[in-house]
Amino acid sequence: MERENFGSRFGVLVALAGSAVGLGNLWRFPYLVGSYGGAAFIFVYIFFVFILCLPILFSEVIVGRRSHSNAYGAFKKLAPGTKWKWLGAVSVFTPIIVVSYYSVIGGWSLEYLFKACTFSFTDTSTQSQLGEMFDNFITSVWAPLFGHTLFLFLTGLVIVAGVKSGIEKFGKIMMPVLFILVVFIAIRSMTLPGAFDGLIYLFKPDFSKIDASVCSAALGQAFFSLSLGVGTMLTYASYIRKDENIAASSTYTAVSDFIFALIASCAILPAVFAFGLNPQEGPGLVFKTLPFIFSHMPLGGIVAILFFLALIVAAITSSISLYEVGVAYLVEEKHMSRKSASLVVFLIAWIMGVFCSLSFGPLSDVKILGQTIFNFFDKLSANFLMPVGGLLIVIFVGWQMKKADVIDEFTNGGSIRANNRISGFVYFMIRYICPLVVLAVFLSNLFF
Ligand code: PFF
Repeated sequence: MERENFGSRFGVLVALAGSAVGLGNLWRFPYLVGSYGGAAFIFVYIFFVFILCLPILFSEVIVGRRSHSNAYGAFKKLAPGTKWKWLGAVSVFTPIIVVSYYSVIGGWSLEYLFKACTFSFTDTSTQSQLGEMFDNFITSVWAPLFGHTLFLFLTGLVIVAGVKSGIEKFGKIMMPVLFILVVFIAIRSMTLPGAFDGLIYLFKPDFSKIDASVCSAALGQAFFSLSLGVGTMLTYASYIRKDENIAASSTYTAVSDFIFALIASCAILPAVFAFGLNPQEGPGLVFKTLPFIFSHMPLGGIVAILFFLALIVAAITSSISLYEVGVAYLVEEKHMSRKSASLVVFLIAWIMGVFCSLSFGPLSDVKILGQTIFNFFDKLSANFLMPVGGLLIVIFVGWQMKKADVIDEFTNGGSIRANNRISGFVYFMIRYICPLVVLAVFLSNLFF
């Protein structure tokens, strides 16, 4: 059977950007900015995204497009008979771990959309009542499990529809919708009385706040947000046609991912400041603090619905990219039909997700290396598998592949002038700088 490709340049961009823009932008980035000192964090983040992670993204995309294979097949094809296929094997399994806990939060977002639609956040609700509502919800058994199942099922539906008529079509409709939703909410938030302090917090850097913990949080976030090191960008890139400009698509992806993160922060932090609340609330910022704000601001009921809708759309476009890695592997390596492959991935991710979901309630005492199951999966992938995967992929491209092949793929056989000009620098970054910096930050994370 012939392999499917994305049908258009815009299709490639929305698929890559759809993977990148997700809970990481709307939920994780704003609370990290809030916790790590605002503009200073953003400043370090920009550096990591555009100087360090962009070449890593190029590397994944080069491997994917060059091989036109799934994450496992790619390494078998480009380095036959070597141990690199193990990196492929890990790259197939890690996204399934990520999607299992990602869909738990996706399920929370579905529940909160439902709550917003049924006007559960009222102007008489106090902050502690809304905090309690969230805690009661996530520690219960059935409601979060239902959300997790529904979210994963919706993701599976898009996957079953295929690369072009599922992933690409969904992204083409949903990414512009997402952009409009987030911009609308940001405008509402920034025009609240008192919101200006939030903007100052976001845009006026205090460089004295930059320390090792800020750097490592910013690097981890850059990896997570650009979906690096877990085979998703590689798999998507394997559906990119040979005449597309992969450097341009990757750069647009990083730029749009950053813009989304920034607009999401403008949607959230100015409102937090306008209400005199604490920006350092952490992971509860979106589910505890925002409902309080929505319930007390003009037009808040509608804004709440739009916000949770945006969160779900962003989460689904990312979770399909995670889900697709396993499906592509099963279809190409195990010769399964797309439907059966989707079912197998669904079942594995669903079972692992059940444990993650229950680890907030009945299984909260079960600890792996001192962490609850959810936190263990989250930390294992974001702090370990993603950076190690990213490190190995740049080593693969910089040291295992032939330089001529890398440059050939990056420049479409020398035919794209702009890419020819930067290819030497990009190759130098991939071969020397990226591995060293990722290794340094990774080790400092382990030991400090
Ligand atoms: N980039 C996504 C986000 O920011 O929410 C999360 C993600 C998707 C991570 C796909 C890793 C991945 F492979």
